[in-house]
Amino acid sequence: MTRVVRLKRRPEGIPDPNDFELSHEQSGVPGPGQLALEVLWLSLDPYLRGVISGRHLNHGIALGSVLPGSVVGRVLASRTSAFRAGEYVLAEAGWREHAVVDADRAQPIEFGEVPARYALSVLGMPGLTAWAGITQIAKVGTGDVVLVSAASGAVGSVAGQLAKRLGARVVGIAGGAEKCRFLSEVLAFDAVVDYHMPSFEQVLAEALPNGLSVYFDNVGGRVLQAALNNLQLNARIVLCGLIDQYNQSARPPGPNLAPVIAARASMHGLVVYDWSAKRPAFLSELLPLVRAGQVTIREDIAYDLSAAPEHFCRLMQGQNFGKSLVQLRA
Ligand SMILES: NC(=O)c1ccc[n+]([C@@H]2O[C@H](COP(=O)([O-])OP(=O)(O)OC[C@H]3O[C@@H](n4cnc5c(N)ncnc54)[C@H](OP(=O)(O)O)[C@@H]3O)[C@@H](O)[C@H]2O)c1
Repeated sequence: MTRVVRLKRRPEGIPDPNDFELSHEQSGVPGPGQLALEVLWLSLDPYLRGVISGRHLNHGIALGSVLPGSVVGRVLASRTSAFRAGEYVLAEAGWREHAVVDADRAQPIEFGEVPARYALSVLGMPGLTAWAGITQIAKVGTGDVVLVSAASGAVGSVAGQLAKRLGARVVGIAGGAEKCRFLSEVLAFDAVVDYHMPSFEQVLAEALPNGLSVYFDNVGGRVLQAALNNLQLNARIVLCGLIDQYNQSARPPGPNLAPVIAARASMHGLVVYDWSAKRPAFLSELLPLVRAGQVTIREDIAYDLSAAPEHFCRLMQGQNFGKSLVQLRA
């Protein structure tokens, strides 16, 4: 038997740990072409809020299902020559302690001395999202003024660091003094704005005296509106996430997009799945930077599968500080 977490009821508004249920299921036995994994690390990601409401790119899960999610696992048994017992893999195994997965849907993790769990953050989906938005869509370069929201998070922190490395002036938006201090003191962003301050809009305008040329948006809502009020002519906007509205059952009235017209700005929706084929190019750029300590990733770690529901609920209230992970075993 192994432990799993299932969706017990669909959350209304902010999710509650009681929306989830820890239960047991029979451990699977791998068939030909399959792997048996013990899960070491589970990634918690905001898109899951949409999945459990049936809204994520029109996908959902049934009540009683095991929650989906990316994991780093260790191969316990392999029925394919492509993997050996003891190897680390990235797989979509969900919220469970043990899993049987198809080997052709698992990816080997070959980072050398870099921790395998980084396959869930800076060297995985969040990192690829940041890389695609900054280097491929916005094509950030010297002279750009790049504004990033949710800037201390898994995607935002990498987006801002990449933009700085490309010669841009980087302004980060985050919630609270501790996150803002991290952005200015550890990640060396050029300016930081706390959107919890009542004077947020004014302080943001002061941090962008000549406006912004690139906005990487992870939040939407009032933060997006404030960013739109500071566009340079021909600004590029990467619409990555709308976490401000993920807990709402109806779509809120949208920001006024008139400034986009006045600035002749371009907006580009970003879906990370479209960039899977670029993963090798992304890794060849990011892995050396991570190995050399030139890109920093902050992590917010909970321990044991039973902690996953509460940790996810913290993430969906902005209480995480860094990439949200659960460690299941060492
Ligand atoms: N387009 C894609 O393909 C793609 C791929 C991956 C992620 N994303 C999106 O990128 C965004 C960031 O994801 P992530 O994994 O890097 O998460 P994260 O930034 O590590 O964590 C989420 C952060 O969002 C901020 N936030 C702002 N408003 C919030 C609100 N109303 N409720 C809760 N949190 C709020 C919080 O930081 P502050 O306290 O600083 O506000 C919170 O820490 C999300 O919108 C996600 O859906 C999109």
